[in-house]
Amino acid sequence: MKTGSIMCEAEERVDPKPIRLVAAVSRSMGIGHKGSLPWSLPNEFKYFIDKITSVAEPGKKNLIIWGRKSFEPFAESLLPLPNCIVALLSRTLSSVPEHVYYVCRSVRDAIKKASKPPLSEEIETIWVLGGVESFAETMKHPWCDQIHITAIMEDYECDTFFPEFDRDIFKLAKEFPGIPSEIQEENGIKYAFQVYQRT
Ligand SMILES: NC(=O)c1ccc[n+]([C@@H]2O[C@H](COP(=O)([O-])OP(=O)(O)OC[C@H]3O[C@@H](n4cnc5c(N)ncnc54)[C@H](OP(=O)(O)O)[C@@H]3O)[C@@H](O)[C@H]2O)c1
Repeated sequence: MKTGSIMCEAEERVDPKPIRLVAAVSRSMGIGHKGSLPWSLPNEFKYFIDKITSVAEPGKKNLIIWGRKSFEPFAESLLPLPNCIVALLSRTLSSVPEHVYYVCRSVRDAIKKASKPPLSEEIETIWVLGGVESFAETMKHPWCDQIHITAIMEDYECDTFFPEFDRDIFKLAKEFPGIPSEIQEENGIKYAFQVYQRT
């Protein structure tokens, strides 16, 4: 048996993976408005795609879990994502869109598939990119060890909000390896990269 593997009741091998959330949030924890992002911060978005979600050891990939509505605006312009396999959350889709590896009916199912062979042999980290339901479900998962937030220092009209999370369980790191600690500015908008770590 591979190091770190767990045998569960049915004698299936499960390889636990770090599961991490990524979101950009306004001062009032808003994340979306009318199906889109309320701001335009292309460098912030590119930073996460280039420096966070695509980073894996040679020969490994990361799994991206995306809710259907969050995924759709990016389906044509952004995919395929470098070094990533995409799992799409939907209870209604009956076919798998281009560049999507699999469609799942729940976050738990998406994680389960990625933590069992053969996929577990390829996957290093699971990144959950939203929306609300997947964020809320993921932060309760015992393997969820980090929440990466871009704290945008502005208020926007929003109809979608990042779920509350327990700040005794996830604590803001003063500094985090590889994450710029200085305040960023783009299009006159200031923001900071924050990492909350499970204690
Ligand atoms: N600022 C940020 O970092 C950020 C990140 C993500 C999203 N957003 C914004 O948030 C908004 C979209 O988020 P949202 O929460 O409304 O929608 P969403 O979660 O992206 O998409 C909702 C749809 O995804 C599927 N789904 C979601 N969770 C599921 C689950 N646990 N199991 C199975 N299917 C699931 C369902 O699809 P079916 O209807 O097909 O069943 C559901 O109707 C947009 O405005 C977007 O721009 C912002």
